[in-house]
Amino acid sequence: MSPLASGPQGPTTLRPLLTTVLDALTAGAATRDGPLPAGGPTEVAARLREALGDPFPEHGDEDALRTLVQALAAGAADPADPLCTAHLHCPPLAVATAADLAASVLNPSLDSWDQAPAASELEALVTRALAAEVYGETGQARSAGDALVTTGGTESNQLALLLARERHGHTQLVCAANAHHSLRRATWLLGLPEPVTVPAPAGTMDPAALGEALTALPGPLLVAATAGTTDAGLIDPLPDIAALCETHGARLHIDAAYGGGLLFSDRHRPKLDGLARAHTVTLDLHKLGWQPIAAGLLAVRDRHDLAPLGHHADYLNADDDTEAGLPDLLGRSLRTTRRPDILKIAVTLKTLGRTGLGALVDRVCERAAEFAELIHRHPRFELHDRPTISTVLFRPADATDDTVAAVRRTLLTEGRAVLGRARLDDRLWLKATLLNPHTGADDLAALLKLVEGHTPR
Ligand SMILES: Cc1ncc(COP(=O)(O)O)c(C=O)c1O
Repeated sequence: MSPLASGPQGPTTLRPLLTTVLDALTAGAATRDGPLPAGGPTEVAARLREALGDPFPEHGDEDALRTLVQALAAGAADPADPLCTAHLHCPPLAVATAADLAASVLNPSLDSWDQAPAASELEALVTRALAAEVYGETGQARSAGDALVTTGGTESNQLALLLARERHGHTQLVCAANAHHSLRRATWLLGLPEPVTVPAPAGTMDPAALGEALTALPGPLLVAATAGTTDAGLIDPLPDIAALCETHGARLHIDAAYGGGLLFSDRHRPKLDGLARAHTVTLDLHKLGWQPIAAGLLAVRDRHDLAPLGHHADYLNADDDTEAGLPDLLGRSLRTTRRPDILKIAVTLKTLGRTGLGALVDRVCERAAEFAELIHRHPRFELHDRPTISTVLFRPADATDDTVAAVRRTLLTEGRAVLGRARLDDRLWLKATLLNPHTGADDLAALLKLVEGHTPR
C-alpha cells in the first residue's frame, strides 16, 4: 500500500521522495537553458505529452514523481530567473515553500476546529496582525480589524463586493478604467449592476471625475480604488478618494493586491497613505510578499462586517460545540475545506521580520528605478515613466505596436525572456514587473540588450 505523508512514518517516507523531487527539479531546470522552455506552445506541449505518456495507466509507474516533476521543471516559466519579468508572478521564498510542504503533510482543513486545532489559532493571530498592519494607524482599537485568507486578489475583490452588498444592499460599484478585471466579474457574479467607470487619464483614477460620479449617482455606492495597478504599478490618489467617499457616504474598497507589499517598507509605506481609510483592502502576498501561490487576504476595518459570512452546518459548527468553546471557522471563508495558507505567511513574517521583508521590497523597487534609468539613457528605447513600485514599461523607440508585440512573442518562443505587455496612452508597451530581489543590474542590462537585438532596425 502507498505510504502516507503524515503519521509516525511520514518523515521517514518523505525524505527519499524529497530527494527525488529536488533532483528532478535540478535536472529539469538544467534542460531548459532560460526562463521558460524554448519552442512555443506546440513544442512544449509535445514534450510534456511524451513525458506523461498514459495519464492514468492500468498499473502504476514508480518513477512518475521523478518523470513528471522533471518534465514540469523543464517546461516551467521560472520566476526566479532574472529574465522572467512579465507578470505579478513572484519567485517564492525557500522558507515559505518549506512551510508549504509542512502544510501539505499536516493537511489541516480550516473549516472546523477539530481538523485544525493549532492552525486555526495561528490563522486568527496572524490575520489580526496583518489587519493591524493595514489599519493600525487609524487610532482605532487595534482589535477592530480582521483579515480573511483567500486564494488571491480575485477572491478578495469578490468578497469585498459581497460584504458591501450584504451591508448596504444592491450596491453600485464605481471604479476607474485602471481597475482589475476581477472587480467587473465580481459584479456579474453577485448580480450587481454594471460598474460605473470613471476615467484614469494618467493611469490613475481622476478624483474630479469620481466626485462628479458620486454626486450624480444614487447610492448605495462602493468605490474601488487601486494601489498598484496591474499594468503600470500606479497608485490611485488614495487620500483624495477616501475624502470623497467620506463626504458622499460611499463605501471604499482598495485593491492593494500588488501595492500592499509596500506596507512592509519604511521607505515606501507613505505611498499607501489613505489605505487605512478603506472599509476593505485586498492584499496578495503571492505578489510582493514572495509566497508560493496561494496567499491572498482581505483586510476589513470593522470585523463586524464579516457577520454575513456566518453559516451553519451542523457537522462543522453545531451550536452546542460553539457554545462549549470550539471556534466556529465557517464564517471565515466561502470555501469549506481550506488549506492552511497562513502557515507559510506566518513563517515568512517571523523569519524575516519587518526589516527583512522591507529590505526585499526596497530592493525590487530600487532595481526597477535603475532599470528605468538605463532605458531612459538608452537612445534606442523609450521609457513610459519612472516606476511607482517595481513595474517598468518601455518600448523600442519608433517601433510600431506590431513590432513590440512580435519582439515579446519571439523572446517567449525562443525561451530567452518573459516580458509582459500593456496598452497605455493608446500604445503597446513591453512590461517588466520586477519581483526578484536577487536580480542584479547586469541582468537588467542583459535583458535590454536582448530586446535590442530582437528589434528590427
Ligand atoms: C491589482 C490586482 N488586483 C487583483 C488581482 C488578482 O489577483 P489574483 O490573480 O491573485 O487573483 C491582480 C492580479 O494580477 C491585480 O494585479
